[in-house]
Amino acid sequence: MNGADLQLDAQGRLRHFLSIEGMRRTQLEEILQLAESFIGVGEQQVKKVPLLRGKTVVNLFFENSTRTRTTFELAAKRLSADVLNMNIATSATSKGESLLDMLRNLEAMNCDMFVVRHADSGAAHFIAHHVAPHISVINAGDGRHAHPTQAMLDMFTIRRHKGAFHNLKVAIVGDVLHSRVARSQIHALSILGTPEIRVIGPRTLVPRDIAGLGVHVHHDLAAGLEGVDVIIMLRLQRERMQGAFLPSEEEYFQLFGLSPEKLALAKQDAIVMHPGPINRGVEIASEVADGPQSVILEQVTNGIAVRMAVMALVLGRHPGAGAEEAA
Ligand code: CP
Repeated sequence: MNGADLQLDAQGRLRHFLSIEGMRRTQLEEILQLAESFIGVGEQQVKKVPLLRGKTVVNLFFENSTRTRTTFELAAKRLSADVLNMNIATSATSKGESLLDMLRNLEAMNCDMFVVRHADSGAAHFIAHHVAPHISVINAGDGRHAHPTQAMLDMFTIRRHKGAFHNLKVAIVGDVLHSRVARSQIHALSILGTPEIRVIGPRTLVPRDIAGLGVHVHHDLAAGLEGVDVIIMLRLQRERMQGAFLPSEEEYFQLFGLSPEKLALAKQDAIVMHPGPINRGVEIASEVADGPQSVILEQVTNGIAVRMAVMALVLGRHPGAGAEEAA
């Protein structure tokens, strides 16, 4: 499921943002650069710029979210857009209205952008395929498939701490099998030129074909963490597991949890990341999650600037856009 073709318009500009796979390095760097220019907005007295004034953004979250939904809402508001948060549980879908009919009604209200979170892989692509030509779709996480804005905020955070990707060793640890975040991160890291990406986890939670993405696979946490610059911890995605993948959470923490002792095996200045939500004592110890090497809450802050950048780019309303688009 490669969104590269669907997400570009006839002129080759980003119209939707559905997946990282198939994107060019220059496109990812443009997002990072634009996000850099938006970081200061959140520190201003008046946290607003007028780039999306007059635009209407609809948050369509069919699956629970804390970070992604709220940071998309804040990002849209900081760009001066109007924001609708659809409450799916109380919407007319409960009366049998189909997804496409709901979309047609939102289109009739002259909305400009749908931000979509869905438990089914491919949902954002499906919606992008069916929306009216003036609507942009952003994938806010679909099933196990992709979470492209999470990957971009992670890349932004890594770049801010490490400066570049060409000399980094990055470890992604945990339930890679069920993780949409890991897949998007691997694509983004490799497009940006990261020479060594390690995937670490139990055999039951690492996809058999993952090495095909150019990563090094480790089933021993200590060996995998040796000398890395960046550690990205992943949550056990219990809601996507069918059957027994693990003996117990205690045993999982013993083998794959990031404790201060395990962290000491990485480089001294290694950063610890986690997309959230974190499960303390399962994949990460509290001392590490709250410790000096953790950048977990910075990721959340950076998510606003990165989502502002993606929204401005897909609507052609960024400082580098042509006069006609930006008007
Ligand atoms: N990282 C992430 O997607 O978190 P939420 O599920 O809270 O949005």
